[in-house]
Amino acid sequence: MTFEETIKEELKDHFTKREISYYIKVLIEDMPLLKDGGKSEWVSICKRLIDQEPIQYITGVAPFYGYFFQVDNNVLIPRPETEELVYLINEHIKKGNKGTTRILEIGSGSGCIPITINLLNPDTDVLSVDVSAGALEVARANNSKLESNVIFRSCDILDEDKWTGFSGKFDIIVSNPPYIPNKEKSLMSANVLDNEPHLALFVEDADPLIFYDKIMKFAGEYLKENGTVFLECNEYNAKDVKAIYDEEYSAEIIKDMQGKERMIIARK
Ligand SMILES: C[S@@+](CC[C@H](N)C(=O)[O-])C[C@H]1O[C@@H](n2cnc3c(N)ncnc32)[C@H](O)[C@@H]1O
Repeated sequence: MTFEETIKEELKDHFTKREISYYIKVLIEDMPLLKDGGKSEWVSICKRLIDQEPIQYITGVAPFYGYFFQVDNNVLIPRPETEELVYLINEHIKKGNKGTTRILEIGSGSGCIPITINLLNPDTDVLSVDVSAGALEVARANNSKLESNVIFRSCDILDEDKWTGFSGKFDIIVSNPPYIPNKEKSLMSANVLDNEPHLALFVEDADPLIFYDKIMKFAGEYLKENGTVFLECNEYNAKDVKAIYDEEYSAEIIKDMQGKERMIIARK
């Protein structure tokens, strides 16, 4: 049996024809040598798919804004709605004053946000922080593979004592922080829950807005006058996040392409 025939046969009782065609296309594109392998290798990949492992962790790459990012289970798989956040930031930078834009991203993951911004806007000085050593390793690998110039640094943004490590102020602070309350775990699909890093996804039920509160406080010290905060959020708490920023900023909710309240832009 050929590669395609084997994959179709192995997956036919588990996925729709459309899903199987998509998997075949992605495997051929992202793992070009796979077709030269043998049946046992193809079957073992099918087993991983049947076990709900995301295809991006199997191929090791995920597309984002036209670039291919290396991913593994230390990092969140970049999502399409985050591309929309990056689009907003790009538009904002283009409209702004000439000169270098200084940007901080909080929660690097694969590095998809800061690297894409830096590649599309070479006149940016971009710093990105994450508390996860595994995520920083992946982000730095992407920075070097894609030839961007982002600085990645370890920092727990919830620990205010660590803030003294930042020098100067930023024009833009951006974050897609963890925002899913632990209690929503039961509603999530197995492929996310069993594979993606919980550190990237979940927050305590008692304080689901903790990152938005901290970033607001951080921005009070480290965002320039006329600076802007860009945030991704849970569609169910966008109004609560806006309310936090409305106290000192002019904040606006932006819907994603699915019509969900997904992003906040807060101008100082
Ligand atoms: C939702 S993921 C976003 C990853 C990436 N920016 C993206 O949009 O795909 C959140 C990231 O925040 C990081 N993170 C979690 N807690 C943190 C903390 N206390 N300080 C800094 N980063 C943290 C996680 O390790 C994870 O990489």
